[in-house]
Amino acid sequence: MKMTRRAFCAGLAAVPLARPTQAQDMALLTARAATVQLAPDGYPATPVWSYDGTIPGPVIRAAQGSRLQRRLVNTLEVPTSVHWHGIRIDNAMDGVAGLTQNAVPPGESFDYAFDLPDAGTYWYHAHTNSMEQVARGLSGALIIEEATPPDVDRDEVLMIDDWLLEPDTGLFVDDFAAPMTRSHGGQIGNLVGVNGRYDYSLSARQNERLRLRLINSANAQIFGLKLEGLTGWTVALDGMPLDTPEPVTDTLVLAPAQRMDLIVDITAEEGETAGLLFAAADDTWRVLAEVSVEGRAASVPRGAPQPLPRNPRMEVVGVDTAPVLEMPLQGGAMRGLESAAFNGQKLTWQELVQQGQFWALAGQAGLGEAPFATLSRGETARIRMTNDTIFPHAMHLHGMHFRTRKEDGSLGPLRDTVLVMPNEMTEIAFVADNLGKWLLHCHMLGHAASGMTNWIMVA
Ligand code: C2O
Ligand code: CU
Repeated sequence: MKMTRRAFCAGLAAVPLARPTQAQDMALLTARAATVQLAPDGYPATPVWSYDGTIPGPVIRAAQGSRLQRRLVNTLEVPTSVHWHGIRIDNAMDGVAGLTQNAVPPGESFDYAFDLPDAGTYWYHAHTNSMEQVARGLSGALIIEEATPPDVDRDEVLMIDDWLLEPDTGLFVDDFAAPMTRSHGGQIGNLVGVNGRYDYSLSARQNERLRLRLINSANAQIFGLKLEGLTGWTVALDGMPLDTPEPVTDTLVLAPAQRMDLIVDITAEEGETAGLLFAAADDTWRVLAEVSVEGRAASVPRGAPQPLPRNPRMEVVGVDTAPVLEMPLQGGAMRGLESAAFNGQKLTWQELVQQGQFWALAGQAGLGEAPFATLSRGETARIRMTNDTIFPHAMHLHGMHFRTRKEDGSLGPLRDTVLVMPNEMTEIAFVADNLGKWLLHCHMLGHAASGMTNWIMVA
C-alpha cells in the first residue's frame, strides 16, 4: 500500500509519542547553593551548599530490591560527587572522586543508577573534598524500605549534625582545613541539631510506637545519646538488622557516619518531657530532639518488638581461618609519625606536616598507587586495626559490611563503620564479595583528608 502523506500523518498520530529515554526521565538531585536558617531566630541565616536547597537534602526513600536512579546536577562552583554510604553498591556508582569516578565539574551532571540489595537506614553525601562539602551541608538520608515494614505507628528520620558557625554573621567558620583540628579530634560544631534544626521536636501520643532512624552526619563529633520518657530497643546498626532487638538501657554511642534504628514506645505521661538527649561537651545532657506527649495512642505499651527481616548475605563465613592484615592507625597530635609514604615518597613527620598530612594507615598517608590489600572475590579477610594514636577513629569500609571479631573469636553485628578507641585493637572480618576499588578510611573527615584514607581491591 502506498502511504499518502495524510495517512502517514494519521498513522503517526495513532502511535504514542516517542517516549523519552530513561535517562531523560531520571529524577534530579541538584547540588546547589542555598541560604537556610540553622542558627536560632535572631541570628543571621547561613549560606550553605545543599542538595535541592535544603539542609539536610531530601530524604530519598526506595524499596528494597528496586533500582535507584538520580542525576546529580552540579550547579556549585566546585566539582563534586555523591557517595551512597552503606549501600553494597556497584563500584562504578560509589561516588569516590579520584577512585571510582571523576568529580563532576560545575555545570555538569552525572547519572547514578544502582540496585538496592538491602533494606535499612543509609545516607548520601559528597565524596569530593568531603571535609568541606559535607560540613557545608551536602548530605541527606537514604531509606531503603523492607517489603514488610515493622509494626510501628510512625517512621521518623533523625539526621544528627553539628555546624561551626560565626555567631555574628551566620557564616560557616571558613577554615574547614584548619591544621589544628585536622591533627586533633576533627571539626566539632558549636551548634548541634537534627534535620537541619537546632530545636527539632515532634509530637507523639503516649504508648505510640515510633521507629527512629538515627544518622550521624557530623564531620567528627561522636554523639553519646540517651532516651528520656521513651522505652526503646536497638533493631539495626548501619542499616543491618540485629538478630535480636536490644533494649536500650544505657548511653548509645553514635560515631560519625554510623546509623542506628531504634523502635521506641512513648512511655512518658502527657505533658512530661520526653525525647532524645545528647551528652554536651560540658558533660551535661541536653535535648537533641524533643518529643511532646499529647494524648494517648493505647492504654499500655506494646512490649518488645520483633526483629527486622534479615537482609541477604549477612553471614561472614570462614573468619577463623581467614588471613589477618595488619593496619595500624598512626599519627596525629601528641604522637606523630616517624615517617610515612605519601604520593610515592617516604616522608618524615616534618615533611608530612608541610603537606598537610598528619595521619597514616599502615605507613601510608592518603591513597597510594597500590591498594592496602588485593582480595579475590568471595574471599573472607580480616583487618586488624590497632589504634596507635590518642584519638578515636570511625573507620568505614565502602562496598561491603563487616563484623568485628572479638578476641574470643565471636563476631559482632554487621556494620559499615566502627569506632576504634585510642590504644585499642579492633579486628574486622568481611566477605570480599563486591568487585572493585573500595575505600577504607576514617570518617572524621578532616582525618580522612590528611592521611587516614586507604583502599582495597577486590578482583
Ligand atoms: Cu560516608 Cu567514604 O564515606
Ligand atoms: Cu580519624
